[in-house]
Amino acid sequence: MTLLDGKAVAAAVLEDVGAEVRALPGRPPSVVFIRVGDDPASVSYVNTKQKTAARLGIDSRLDHFPEDISGEKLLAHIASLNADAAVDAILVQAPLPDHLSERTVFNAVHPDKDVDGFGEVNLGRLVQENPDGFVACTPAGIHEIIRRSEIPVEGRHVVVVGRSLIVGKPAGLLFLRKGDFANATVTFCHSRTRNLAAVTRQADILIAAIGRAHFIGPDHVREGATVIDVGINRVDDPSRPRGYCLVGDVLFDEVKSKCEYITPVPGGVGPMTVAMLMANTLKAHRRNHSA
Ligand code: GUN
Repeated sequence: MTLLDGKAVAAAVLEDVGAEVRALPGRPPSVVFIRVGDDPASVSYVNTKQKTAARLGIDSRLDHFPEDISGEKLLAHIASLNADAAVDAILVQAPLPDHLSERTVFNAVHPDKDVDGFGEVNLGRLVQENPDGFVACTPAGIHEIIRRSEIPVEGRHVVVVGRSLIVGKPAGLLFLRKGDFANATVTFCHSRTRNLAAVTRQADILIAAIGRAHFIGPDHVREGATVIDVGINRVDDPSRPRGYCLVGDVLFDEVKSKCEYITPVPGGVGPMTVAMLMANTLKAHRRNHSA
């Protein structure tokens, strides 16, 4: 079993992005984060993203709105950022409160500033295999770990458990594409999949993105598989100062001995998401300056 060290791969990506940012002429890349309400996980994710941006020399700003902001107000704010030439990238942190339509909000971000890749234009570009698009950061991070670890993909069976817009769907599409570290046979599974373990046991590469703690056990994994654990689940743990710990969707201790490669939680896919966001922000800056 080889551990896929997402922290180390993310550090390598960040080093590359930082070097490119330092070499840029003119103003640095800039990203605006929009956070609605005070969901503790969102507060923590946006803080990490801002700290990483600062370390790389990328300008960032947080536009924070109360939980009860109206859809019209939020959309008007996004429109003003779309029109602001000093803003390269816009990220609306999910989840949004129930009264706001995530689809409408994500689609309102200008496609060339949509570094999350959640808007319909960038999802369409992914389906069309257009390299000019932005790919959502977590799936892009999964692909980058596989690519930098030189894990073969072509002709192999990638099974994705989870069909979210943020992870499952784009992750499967990335491996389905033509090209290097792609050309896979891809199966999507979800909560209604019958006999899930029989399907996941066929995976050469199993991507667990269900959002349920320790859902994938040894019965779901075939000997010699590569397992990518996307889950970041808070589980009560009174022994920790915060009162909780973070665990993945995979029962790591029971599954690891069966795997050729496996990502840990924390320190697997998580750090890659932030790294790919920085890479996408640099790409947005280049796009907006070459037009
Ligand atoms: N919430 C959980 N993951 C993400 C992400 O990658 N981007 C945004 N905007 N919100 C998220």
